[in-house]
Amino acid sequence: MWIRLARLLVSSADGTSMARLNSWLLASTFFAAISGCIGATVVVVNGTASHAIPSTLFGQMFESGDGGLYAELLQNRAFQQVTPNTAAALNAWHPVSGASISVIKDTKPVSAALPNSLQLTIPSGQNGAVGFSNEGFWGIKVDASWTYNASFFFKFPTQSAFKGSMTIGLQTSTGQMLASESVDISGSTTSWTQVQVKLKPTTSAKDTKNSFVVTVSGAGGQTIDFAMFSLFPPTFKNRPNGMRIDIAETLIEMGPSFFRFPGGNNLEGQTVATRWQWNATVGSLLDRPGRVGDWGYVNTDGLGILEYLTFFEDAGMEPIMAIWSGYALGGTNLAENQLAPYIAQARDQINFVIGDPKTSAPAALRASLGHPEPFALRYIEVGNEDFFAATTYPYRWHDIVANLSAEFPHLQFIATSNTFNPILSPNPTQYDVHVYQTPGWFAQNSFIYDGFQRNGTTYFEGEYAAISTNANNLFGTPDQGRLLWPTMQSSTGEAAFMTGLERNSDIVFAASYAPLLQHVNSTQWTPDLISFDAGQVYKSTSFYAQKLFSVNRGDEYLPSTLPSHTGTLFWSVTRSKASSSIIIKISNTVATAAAMTFQLPFNTVASTGSLQQLHGAQTASNTPAQPQLIVPVTSSIPTGKTFDFNAPGFSVNVITIRVT
Ligand SMILES: *[C@@H]1O[C@H](CO)[C@@H](O)[C@H](O)[C@H]1NC(C)=O
Ligand SMILES: *[C@@H]1O[C@H](CO)[C@@H](O)[C@H](O)[C@H]1NC(C)=O
Ligand SMILES: *[C@@H]1O[C@H](CO)[C@@H](O)[C@H](O)[C@H]1NC(C)=O
Ligand SMILES: *[C@@H]1O[C@H](CO)[C@@H](O)[C@H](O)[C@H]1NC(C)=O
Ligand SMILES: *[C@@H]1O[C@H](CO)[C@@H](O)[C@H](O)[C@H]1NC(C)=O
Repeated sequence: MWIRLARLLVSSADGTSMARLNSWLLASTFFAAISGCIGATVVVVNGTASHAIPSTLFGQMFESGDGGLYAELLQNRAFQQVTPNTAAALNAWHPVSGASISVIKDTKPVSAALPNSLQLTIPSGQNGAVGFSNEGFWGIKVDASWTYNASFFFKFPTQSAFKGSMTIGLQTSTGQMLASESVDISGSTTSWTQVQVKLKPTTSAKDTKNSFVVTVSGAGGQTIDFAMFSLFPPTFKNRPNGMRIDIAETLIEMGPSFFRFPGGNNLEGQTVATRWQWNATVGSLLDRPGRVGDWGYVNTDGLGILEYLTFFEDAGMEPIMAIWSGYALGGTNLAENQLAPYIAQARDQINFVIGDPKTSAPAALRASLGHPEPFALRYIEVGNEDFFAATTYPYRWHDIVANLSAEFPHLQFIATSNTFNPILSPNPTQYDVHVYQTPGWFAQNSFIYDGFQRNGTTYFEGEYAAISTNANNLFGTPDQGRLLWPTMQSSTGEAAFMTGLERNSDIVFAASYAPLLQHVNSTQWTPDLISFDAGQVYKSTSFYAQKLFSVNRGDEYLPSTLPSHTGTLFWSVTRSKASSSIIIKISNTVATAAAMTFQLPFNTVASTGSLQQLHGAQTASNTPAQPQLIVPVTSSIPTGKTFDFNAPGFSVNVITIRVT
């Protein structure tokens, strides 16, 4: 007890701003310590708020949506950015019943943006149902309660007298057709013609090993070209070209305030030519060329800028939108005299989001696509991780921000270099800070922002996660400590850090774990906040930690006795004015339970509070094999002006108490 009290005194006296705010607490801590239960950590709460909790505090950062958030079920649906006549170009496609298929560079493509077609050749004499299938993104969920919208374009490259029918269906791995529709086709169709059918499965499939199948009967000797396939299940809010319902609902369950898009690395491109460009992601799917993304696969850009913005509106999130900053990941730094067209493109991108359709062509395009009103937009991020190109960032930042802030004076620009290094002009009022570290680092650095000056510069903790237990090999493999899934140890470390973000939310205006999503069958980075496969979504322990903080945010911060800088137990206290309650968040980052005594300064404190607790063993994770191993459990606990609480080892706790 005395040792712990001494630590509290030392940690509160080291000159941090919060220590100054809390100086009165020293004396009360001392007396509380004497009266509190032996061995308990005593937390004295101050009823006077130090600052408001920013409405943007907790949100999400995002890289790309194909095979995930974007609900399209067919992989490589339009043969975008593939090399014709290669096996790789046929990724996810397979011949059925002796057909010959290849991806060709079409002399009469379906559109300028989609130069490649799938050519089906049916050998002479092959008169059964012959065609091809698509395996989806490592499977396709077939649900009898859904109606699927399937579509594609076809043409006969050479006119023929053929008349017959084409069958479009959903099939199990054992060949059982669960849904199908047939359409009549004729060999006289030599210009691109779209087929659109609804597929209504008769039964749900028992697993996701299903395919989308197109076959033609009695067509021996015929050649038919196909382009721009699509297969959509019902989407979130029934938006055409929209989001996968279970993933969208999981994102929203976390209560995010903002969504950082379109990357992350996925903004940057390996080359200038492959950077993300807003105008390549709008309008008809036929006009979207797709791009080689930064995570090793082709992006369809079906999830384009308008689909993103529509989703944010549907989900009640605010965009934090990045613009390309003149640096490509492969190492190209544009010279200052090359920047102008890219600044113009960024201006167009912003005008697409918020411009006036009467005066701006990109805004008029937005209006023509059904959204005349501007979208909500306050924050523009200039690049991503420009500490990798720090020598050129000063002129890139300067020219981009000087031009765009003149045109959009109400927008706030976020810098992505290291804080204050190099010195930038104009001086950023927002920095995006990224950190991937060990659970212990996060706990030990939960005070990192306490020492920052309060001088108008604010911070977006735009990417953070405890990714390894090995500080000497953070980015190594699992046998070197890298985590495959968030664990209770990593999640409690992050939660400890988040108590520090709340305490410092006078200068930290936003924070997002990264990465957000992974398909378990095609993963580029671990651990991730949310995992999924073709059928299901798996919420990690860190997802629940994020959710516990995000949905129990409160609107003002109440100072309290500071945790020890060198300790393992962390907390923060906020108040929700609307519900007249205080919210105490506690993270215990080690296996030993911690006894705590809280002292509340309010006139009336309810005798019962609600406890939401995430608790499990150090290495315990939620995985596809055990998706619900650790979930928050809600219970009632006795509370009062003074009350004791025992924080179990490796736990994140949220205690909500009505006070007046
Ligand atoms: C996807 O990953 C899961 C979990 O590892 C595995 O069981 C399944 O077989 C994989 N599916 C495919 C199509 O690879
Ligand atoms: C499927 O088509 C119907 C109209 O037939 C439309 O209302 C619905 O939005 C479409 N769904 C998707 C995901 O495109
Ligand atoms: C997008 O606009 C840029 C100019 O800002 C242009 O170079 C590029 O070709 C356009 N891309 C598409 C697909 O329209
Ligand atoms: C706008 O950008 C251009 C091109 O980089 C640059 O020459 C110019 O100085 C910038 N404008 C301002 C006001 O800095
Ligand atoms: C705030 O302080 C930092 C560190 O001294 C400094 O680099 C930065 O420019 C200051 N911000 C403002 C807006 O003055």
